[in-house]
Amino acid sequence: MITEESTQPLIIVSNRGPAQFERDENGERRLIRGGGGLVTALSGLVANRDALWIASAMTAEDVVVTAENDFEPLDIEINDVSYKVLMVESDPEAFDRFYNVVANPMLWFIQHYLWDLSNAPDIRQSELDAWDFGYQTVNQDIADAVIRQVADRERPLVMLHDYHLYTAPRMIRAARPDALLYHFVHIPWSEPDSWRILPSRIREAIFDGLLANDIVGFHTSAYCTNFLACCNRLMGYEVDYEKLRVDHPGGHTIVRAYPLPIDPERLARAADSPEVADAEKEVLARRREHLILRVDRADLSKNVLRGFTAFDTFLTQHPEFRERVTFVAHLQPSRQDVPEYAEYLERIEALVAVVNHRHGTTDWMPIDLRVYENFNEAVARYKHFDLLMVNSIFDGMNLVAKEAPSINLRDGVVMLSENTGSHEELEDYVLTVNPFDIQDQADTIHRALTMSHRERRERADGLREVIFSRNPRDWIDEQVADINLVRSQIADQGSE
Ligand code: G6P
Repeated sequence: MITEESTQPLIIVSNRGPAQFERDENGERRLIRGGGGLVTALSGLVANRDALWIASAMTAEDVVVTAENDFEPLDIEINDVSYKVLMVESDPEAFDRFYNVVANPMLWFIQHYLWDLSNAPDIRQSELDAWDFGYQTVNQDIADAVIRQVADRERPLVMLHDYHLYTAPRMIRAARPDALLYHFVHIPWSEPDSWRILPSRIREAIFDGLLANDIVGFHTSAYCTNFLACCNRLMGYEVDYEKLRVDHPGGHTIVRAYPLPIDPERLARAADSPEVADAEKEVLARRREHLILRVDRADLSKNVLRGFTAFDTFLTQHPEFRERVTFVAHLQPSRQDVPEYAEYLERIEALVAVVNHRHGTTDWMPIDLRVYENFNEAVARYKHFDLLMVNSIFDGMNLVAKEAPSINLRDGVVMLSENTGSHEELEDYVLTVNPFDIQDQADTIHRALTMSHRERRERADGLREVIFSRNPRDWIDEQVADINLVRSQIADQGSE
C-alpha cells in the first residue's frame, strides 16, 4: 500500500551527506564520497527512491557551493547515483563542539562501550557548553532546515539518521505536530548503565528527542531491547517488550529492527568496472599464497590493534606460514580532530612497524597497511581475499562483512566478531570470534587458512545466499509499511 504522502520525495536527514566538496592542491574543486556505513545505506535507498537528503555542510567548500546555489538543494552525481542534497551550514565553533566533543567521542564511545571509565570521560564546563552551544545548536540548524523544506507539505514524512541528531526530532515536532517522524540509529544501542555517564539533563534531552519520533529503528532486535530498557529504567516510562512500544507523556513510540542489507547489484557493477580492473592488477601482482584483508574506518571500535596482535601471535605459533601470507589492512582515516582517534592511528602505525620488524624478511612485509580512502582499491581487494577479518569491539551492523563476500572470487572465509549487528544474520557461515580473545583470533586465522576447499565453498555459498536474500528496496519497503501503519493509526485517532 502506497499512501498519498509516500509518493512525495522522501526527506532524509543525517549529519554526513553522500559527498563533500574540497579543493585539491591545484585549487580545483573535487567531490569526495562520504565514508562509513550510513552513506552506503542511504545511497542504496536514494538509488531506489526519489529523495531530498538534508545534511550538514562538512567543509568550507560545501558552504561556498551551497551559497553559490542560493541555499537551495543541489543535484550531484557520484558513483553512478544521483542525489538531491541540501547542505546546512552551522557556526564553525558550534559544529566543532557538536562533532568533535559530543557526537564523537562522547556518544559514539558510550554506544560502543569504548570509555575507559576510571580515566575518561571527564565532564567539565567545556563539555557541558559543547552540549548546549554545539550539539543543540547544530540540531536546531538542521531542524530549521527540515521545517523550511516541509513547509508546504501536509503530514510530511521525515526520516532522520543516527546519533548526531537525537534532539532534532523534538524541535521538528514542536513546529510540526502533524509530521510523521522516523529515526534510524545505525550504531548499537547500549545498555542502560552505559548512559549514566551523561549528566541526567543531557540524557533526558536525548530520550525526549528520540521519543518525539513515531518510530525508532535499529539494525537488530538486541538494540531494540536495550533501547526499551533505557526508556524504562532511565526515564521511568512504561514499555512493552512484545509490542516493542514505549508510552510516554507525548504519546507512544514504536521501536523496530530493520537489518540493513547491501545493494549487491550496484556492488557487482562496481566490481566489473575498468577502474576496479586496474586496481586488481596491483592486488594480484603483490599477493602471496594467502591474502588476509580488513577494510575499515580507522576507528577504535573496529579493534585494529588486537587484530594485528592476533596475526603476530599466529605467525609466531605457525612459522610455516612466513612469506606465504600477507595481511592487507585498508583503513580510511576518520575523525582525526578527535585526539583519541589521532592517537589510535599512531598506535596502529607503531604496531605494524613492530610486527613487520619481528617477522618480515628482505622481500616480505607481513602487514601491508594502506591508510587512505579508495573505493576502487577496496572493491578490488574484496574480490581476492582468502580471509576477511572483522573483529569489531562493537559494531552497529558492519556492511563490509556483507559486501566483501558478495563479490569475492575465492570462496574466502569471513572471521566475524560476535558483537556486530551482521553476526545476527551471518553466524551460521562465518567463523565467530570474541573480539577481546586474541588467541581465539589467532587460532581462527589458522583454521581459515587451512580449511578445505569444500568447507570454504559451503560457507561462501551460505553467506551469498543470506546476503542476496534482501536488498535496499526490501529495507525501505519494510520501513514504509510500518510508517503507513502508524499513519493510518494517527488518521483513525483524528477521526474518532
Ligand atoms: C558510522 C556512523 C555514521 C558516520 C560514519 C562515518 O557509519 O554510523 O553516522 O557518518 O560512521 O563517520 P563520520 O564521522 O566520518 O561521518
